[in-house]
Amino acid sequence: MNIVVSRTVAELRGHLDLECDAGRTVGLVPTMGALHGGHASLVARAVARCDVVVTSIFINPRQFGAGEDLGSYPKMLDDDLELLASLGCRHAWIPSPGEMYPDGYCTRVEMDGLTDVLCGVSRPAHFGGVLTVVLKLFHQVKPDVAFFGQKDYQQSLLIRRMVQDLEVPVCIEVCPIVREPDGLAMSSRNRYLSPEERDQASVLNRALGVVEDAWRGGERDAARLMALGHLVAAESPLVRIDYLEIRDAETLTLREGEARVGDLVAVAAFVGQARLIDNRHFTES
Ligand code: PAJ
Repeated sequence: MNIVVSRTVAELRGHLDLECDAGRTVGLVPTMGALHGGHASLVARAVARCDVVVTSIFINPRQFGAGEDLGSYPKMLDDDLELLASLGCRHAWIPSPGEMYPDGYCTRVEMDGLTDVLCGVSRPAHFGGVLTVVLKLFHQVKPDVAFFGQKDYQQSLLIRRMVQDLEVPVCIEVCPIVREPDGLAMSSRNRYLSPEERDQASVLNRALGVVEDAWRGGERDAARLMALGHLVAAESPLVRIDYLEIRDAETLTLREGEARVGDLVAVAAFVGQARLIDNRHFTES
């Protein structure tokens, strides 16, 4: 099946209004491109659930901080379009920065509290940029359902919160983390890693696994659980932990005392040129 590419809002609406008039449900998968198996799982889920799927590819300058990888973010549009077509994605929405943020653009979504912790500490303007572009994508595409990955847990939580607070008429579906065979969460940024860094990066999933095993083994003390994770991560000298924390999965408050069912265990680390994130949740047994 051919994929229809839109580069302006007018083109996009021209195509999607026809789909809506025909009564088709629309699914949206927002991405920044350089697609991998994690993105593909979201698209496959969207194709299974919706009549028509739109994948957006937009490297959003407003979610990158000074000194981050905006200029070097991987671009591989031909491969991306081929993958999307093979998955049954009908539309690719590929706006330019000028189309998304025309001259004079000056509005930003801001959220209190939830954006100040975890990734918000080392990336202070990041989530404002994410929420702004995601809200714009919702208005441009008008999806019935939008699909996000659990890998960016904080991002998906904030988007759920924004949709609830601003009463945006879209259903949010969060899909499981897709991993490489050694457990490393798939990420467009894994491409930055040298072979040695790539090898050591798998310690992030191992550290989370050790924390989870200890939880399953009956350890409940949040500080001891976090310390265990740090200890494992310290085995890999090329991995510099930004945070490894246990937090309430809804409020994101740091867990003190006993960890609880449902708690989030989240990690972020600098590995060479890349900043990588991963997480999991404590479950009942
Ligand atoms: P990007 O990093 O391209 O990710 C697009 C979507 O893919 C996000 O919802 C992310 O959580 C999901 N994803 C990435 N790796 C995954 C994996 N290993 N398993 C499952 N899902 C995975 O996240 C963004 O882009 C941007 O912030 C965006 C939401 C597009 C706004 O600009």
